[in-house]
Amino acid sequence: MESSKRIEKAAEILACGGLVAFPTETVYGLGADASNPEAIAALYALKGRPTSHPSIVHLASTAQLQEWCLEVPDEAILLAAMFWPGPLTMVLKRAPGVLDAITGGQDTVAVRIPSHPVARKLLETFGRGIAAPSANRFGRISPTSAEDVRFEFNDEVMVLDGGQCQVGIESTIIDLSAGGARILRPGMIQEESIRVALSEMQTAASAELTTPRVPGDLPSHYAPKKTVQLVDSGRLTETLAKLLAEGKNAGVLVLSDVAADSSSELRVSMSCSPDVYAFALYKNLRSMDRSDRVDVIVIERPPSSPEWVAITDRLTRAAGERSIVNSEVCGDGT
Ligand code: TXA
Ligand code: MG
Repeated sequence: MESSKRIEKAAEILACGGLVAFPTETVYGLGADASNPEAIAALYALKGRPTSHPSIVHLASTAQLQEWCLEVPDEAILLAAMFWPGPLTMVLKRAPGVLDAITGGQDTVAVRIPSHPVARKLLETFGRGIAAPSANRFGRISPTSAEDVRFEFNDEVMVLDGGQCQVGIESTIIDLSAGGARILRPGMIQEESIRVALSEMQTAASAELTTPRVPGDLPSHYAPKKTVQLVDSGRLTETLAKLLAEGKNAGVLVLSDVAADSSSELRVSMSCSPDVYAFALYKNLRSMDRSDRVDVIVIERPPSSPEWVAITDRLTRAAGERSIVNSEVCGDGT
């Protein structure tokens, strides 16, 4: 874990308009002062991200919400009490002064209070909102360790080290800005948990909660450099045999040992628990992407039950397929 001194140094860098990468419980973020247009411009330039893409503003406490949001509906107050600090991002109507560079010119802003102790200390020390997309170059896999971030940006930014991210995939994003509640990006806080929380209020939002399932216009490029194939369990053996016949080495992520195949150069058994799977997913994708011994990454498709929705969403994007989950909104590998 990082020392207070290094976190103070990071807060100073942010205050001077610089960039700092920091751990959250989901993935590492590349942070900039969310109120400083030059800092945001530098952030987008380093990430190689189009300026039309909005960023999440990270906060230390709900007291800061009023600086960023025009309205905080009761649903948002309830979800904040239930899930913050934690891996939930809420999209709300933005307050007048919020920069277009943060919102992508929309009239909404995404806000989140992360739970990682280093993120919290940094946010408390800095005292204002930190805009932080995932700390990867545009279109690449989100980093889940300080080493991953250094691999993306070398020594271009200070990196606070908070170990391996516990959740391992990006936060659930819920849009509460237009009346009801709509999940824009599935995450490890599931639709059902949110529905249960909202139903306590007996508002329309719980009944109307949706995760739009529409194919996006663009296949995603949220992906490793290597080809990723997402394969049903029953076709694993056949797929690996075919790759072998083509002289290609497969790196394989399997859920079980059913399809053990000696042709695989690298074979990782992934947990059948979604939480443990998510924790290990990006780490394994990155190491296979880097390995000279792997030509193609083959992933056994997880079950279709609700607790796998967020993971399956990331896997379909990594495979360059059209995710069925709202890919027109968040399917662009940001
Ligand atoms: O777990 C996370 O959410 C991580 C950590 C660092 O907090 N951050 C993250 O940020 O994944 P990023 O920028 O890679 O993805 C944020 C997503 C983007 O797909 C963006 O389009 C969406 O949030 N987003 C941000 N502001 C929005 C808004 N006002 N309306 C709709 N979507 C928004
Ligand atoms: Mg991202």
